[in-house]
Amino acid sequence: MPYVVEPRDPLTQSEGVVAGYAQTASRWPGQPLARRAPGAAELSGPARLERRLPLGRSDLAGRAPRRAIGQLIEIRARVADEDGTPLAGAMVEIWHCNAAGKYIHPNDANDAPEDPNFYGAARLLTGESGAITLRTVKPGAYPVPDSGGWWRPPHVHFSVWGRVWLSRLVTQMFFPGEPLNEHDAILNAVRDPAARSRCIARLVPKDHILVYEYQMVVRGRNAALAM
Ligand SMILES: [Fe+2]
Repeated sequence: MPYVVEPRDPLTQSEGVVAGYAQTASRWPGQPLARRAPGAAELSGPARLERRLPLGRSDLAGRAPRRAIGQLIEIRARVADEDGTPLAGAMVEIWHCNAAGKYIHPNDANDAPEDPNFYGAARLLTGESGAITLRTVKPGAYPVPDSGGWWRPPHVHFSVWGRVWLSRLVTQMFFPGEPLNEHDAILNAVRDPAARSRCIARLVPKDHILVYEYQMVVRGRNAALAM
């Protein structure tokens, strides 16, 4: 079966090099993409990826007295194909900054406090329903360096590994009702409002915790944004 690379839809996907976001120029191909027949390695893996990459914990918020600072939330993310069929066994990597807008990454130069009780990364496997659940704290907004005052709205990064190495979705989840969403250069690099709205999680009422539901479609017309 041939491996088909679907062309990016410029209306529902990011434009690649985002105006005002200097890093995108170095992350986007400078030359037209060349077609290459995938080899056996790309077509056969990653099988049982979880045996090579250790899975992480599903609770980043912790418990007293080592509880992370911030609003307690639960993220229920679901991975599906273009027909809505849940994808079981997909490896989902998640990372986000702490409630003050600081990542645990050493390259984060943001002058915001670290939280010794918060480790902002997880790696989980979807179950039969294609879903993962992560208990964590809501990330804060943070300023983008050398951007002239652009602040990223609270968001959560996702990476989903597919059946083959070439099949990987890297995307971001946004929170509903955030004023900064309207000014975010990354979210608004997508011109189609319906495609943008698919990047925003749905708040589900529940006692004692804010639950955000989010669906990632890995391909097809309603595919999640690659960003
Ligand atoms: Fe981020």
